[in-house]
Amino acid sequence: MTDAKTENRAFWENEELKLDQLVYDASWPGGEKAVERLAKQGKQPVRQLIEKLIDPGTEFFELSRIAGFGMFYPDVDDVPCGGMVTGLGKIYGNWTMILANDSRVKAGTYFPITLKKHMRAQAIAERCGLNCVYIADSGGAYLPMQADVFPDDQHFGSMFYNMARMSSKGLKQITLSTGGNTAGGAYIVFMACQSIMIDKMSYSFLGGPPLVKAATGEVISAEDLGGARIHTQISGGADHFCTNQDEAIAKVRDILSLEAPQKLHIHRYAESPSQVPVESIYQTFPAKIHQGMRVRDFLEAIADDSYFIEYKKTYSPGRGDNIVAGKIRLKGIPVGVIASNGLGIIFAEAARKATEWIVRCSQEKVPLLFIQSSPGYMVGSESEHMGIGKYGADMVRSVSCAQVPRIQLVVGPDNGAANYGMCGRAYRPHFLFHTMRARTSVMSGRSAAEVLLSIEERKRASAGNPMSEGEKQAFRQQMVDKYDGEAHPFYCGARLLSDRVLKFREIRDWLAMAFEVSLLQPIGEPAFGNLRF
Ligand code: COA
Repeated sequence: MTDAKTENRAFWENEELKLDQLVYDASWPGGEKAVERLAKQGKQPVRQLIEKLIDPGTEFFELSRIAGFGMFYPDVDDVPCGGMVTGLGKIYGNWTMILANDSRVKAGTYFPITLKKHMRAQAIAERCGLNCVYIADSGGAYLPMQADVFPDDQHFGSMFYNMARMSSKGLKQITLSTGGNTAGGAYIVFMACQSIMIDKMSYSFLGGPPLVKAATGEVISAEDLGGARIHTQISGGADHFCTNQDEAIAKVRDILSLEAPQKLHIHRYAESPSQVPVESIYQTFPAKIHQGMRVRDFLEAIADDSYFIEYKKTYSPGRGDNIVAGKIRLKGIPVGVIASNGLGIIFAEAARKATEWIVRCSQEKVPLLFIQSSPGYMVGSESEHMGIGKYGADMVRSVSCAQVPRIQLVVGPDNGAANYGMCGRAYRPHFLFHTMRARTSVMSGRSAAEVLLSIEERKRASAGNPMSEGEKQAFRQQMVDKYDGEAHPFYCGARLLSDRVLKFREIRDWLAMAFEVSLLQPIGEPAFGNLRF
């Protein structure tokens, strides 16, 4: 192995150790003491429940694990894992979205990031046609931030709006209450298609005992107001009575045992492994984010048989091949690829090729994978006069209108309009994954520093107080730190700008899963509106 390859591997393995640490912190909030407290309440840590819920021996694909770190809300800096666990698992062979409050994080209450995570999981479920299981254990809205979590669209009420709409489309909404569900939160039990409560553990009421006392003077225990017996024997608000969590999990599985099997809306070929091991990715990607990379080597490491059928391979070398297009199979699923290559700067030729390929894959109803490592479209008079604006716009239009499932994987710089053309968050890819090499921001730190410095210099000069060299350097560094910090996968992942930060060795498995789930719904007909050409 060359020195550069050894260095790359060491660098990325070390970066992924930092990710492991963050995921550990997200998975064990409150440490051993919190687990002991749960045990005293007869409760298991939430991932343990999920493991029992999904089919034995299958994997739980957990989303957005690093959500909520460094949010600096009133009195609360971090909300580990966003306060809830979401992800995809199979129940009786069918992909199911699982949403589970983690009561170890401020009693499972909803912060703005918790809501965003809940909404994102429901959105994936609705789009892909998945049943949902809610493991509900929440103190409801995080009250110091009620104005940020209660009244708006995509706030608390939207959880129930989504449940109602999904259930009307035939997507089962099953709630297992395993703790408190107070006030608005009670609807997670009552809105479910079927709900399960556990004796002396689950509670559901529109007003808890303290509120009832204040409002009416009635003194009543939580159990007698809205415990499992009350709702399964008297009010009828819940459907199944269980005596412990294991029994309740088994009940959820029973309820979903006779669902029709899901089917894929594409022909799936026999799966075969890649010839080039997925581990080689650690060598392929340069440790320096802005150094060019050979994306064909990466494709060989993730594709079945390492086989990439390239489109327009010989077109405009040095300009057209800053985007590589073609098809691969991922565990038997045919996938169209649009991938940044080299330095990833998008020239007009590359934008035209990408647009053509998006249109062709849409015609063929083949899903699309965008591998993003681009700092932007080419600037300058030559490029502008050639029509980079209109070709970039065509790319953005085709990305927006393509009716096939689209997934974005970020493996490098992700700046400016290239974020749009390569199917960034605003273009609603079915799934969006980062890696530790992803850097998503409007500009790189260096570029942003120069732009902002020129503005500051002008301001200071016109005020008769020009900047000294030292001040300029300090200003520059401050901006580089800010922009590079905000572009980092941890900062973006905390805010749910990605669905997960994937380790390089997870990429093949995760993409195959994500395309499979995205193809559970029929693919519509292509329509692109007014392209310019
Ligand atoms: N808003 C803000 N913080 C809340 C909260 C809420 N709705 N509910 C609980 N918390 C906080 C507690 O203050 C406590 O914080 P601390 O660890 O810094 O002391 C932490 O979450 C854990 O709560 P605790 O009451 O110790 O947990 P528990 O397991 O004994 O009880 C509940 C859980 C949900 C039954 C109980 O916290 C409760 O009744 N909360 C209020 C629920 C409510 O009325 N919500 C209405 C909003 S829609």
